[in-house]
Amino acid sequence: MKNKSLVSINDFTKEECLRIIELAGEFEKNPVQDILKGKVVATLFFEPSTRTRLSFESAVNKLGGRIIGFSETASTSVSKGESLKDTIKTVANYSDLIVMRHPIEGSARYASEVSMVPVVNAGDGANQHPTQTLLDLFSIKKTQGTLENLNICMVGDLKYGRTVHSLLIAMSDFNATFNFISPKTLQMPSEYKKLLDEKGLKYYEHEEIHDTFKHADIVYVTRVQKERFSDPIDYEKVKNAFIVKNKMLEGTKPNLKVMHPLPRVNEIDTDVDDNEKAYYFQQAKNGVYTRQAIVASILGLI
Ligand code: CP
Repeated sequence: MKNKSLVSINDFTKEECLRIIELAGEFEKNPVQDILKGKVVATLFFEPSTRTRLSFESAVNKLGGRIIGFSETASTSVSKGESLKDTIKTVANYSDLIVMRHPIEGSARYASEVSMVPVVNAGDGANQHPTQTLLDLFSIKKTQGTLENLNICMVGDLKYGRTVHSLLIAMSDFNATFNFISPKTLQMPSEYKKLLDEKGLKYYEHEEIHDTFKHADIVYVTRVQKERFSDPIDYEKVKNAFIVKNKMLEGTKPNLKVMHPLPRVNEIDTDVDDNEKAYYFQQAKNGVYTRQAIVASILGLI
């Protein structure tokens, strides 16, 4: 993984993903180390973020590295019209690794091609969010004891939700069965269903939750991605399509965990938060250990 960019979850092999999970477990036991001393990580966020940016920064700080970057472009030369290429080539002069979130699909791949240092995709439009997927894999392994043969319900905006796209690809290596629950207009794109067809994996599409949670090991809920809609009326029609409530978890499997990449708007009722099956805040915490593993691996320090 040394010097490798991480733009798509496909950039890491199954073995490399498993190695990141293993390392994340080691960082969880021993999160404060000095292995990034002298290293500079740039976090370039062209779109808002709380968890991804701050957990990367927390990860680097705990390992003794330094952070530079921006969380919005207004105070940078992007606002003067500087191109992405020029921004990346410049920041690559100042850092050992670039972590970038950008609204345009494919922007992270482009950045990795023009950068002299590795680029980690922290979300590119509706495309992919591979570091979220690695922390999701870590969270699933930690709570289920295995990644194999799990029943996964994905609920909400499956069209624009980049986290479910990356997670589907990753879990397709572990013989998962999927239930996709979404409004018709926000269904899982056909390219992802084609991948499952090619691998001979089972998936079912639903427009209502009904009893889909009954056999689930993981219920993965996503926010309807308001920022991806060109017509606000279309967003209004689906914004509250699914709200997961505590009552819906009655009679579900004891090992079931409710996950969500966050931020949450209305799609999980706060009455779920105290249920032992709610896992989204621990999931966010797992992001620090997983991102420690990603940064240290790419910088070749472990
Ligand atoms: N999960 C996630 O990407 O959250 P942020 O948008 O807050 O980074």
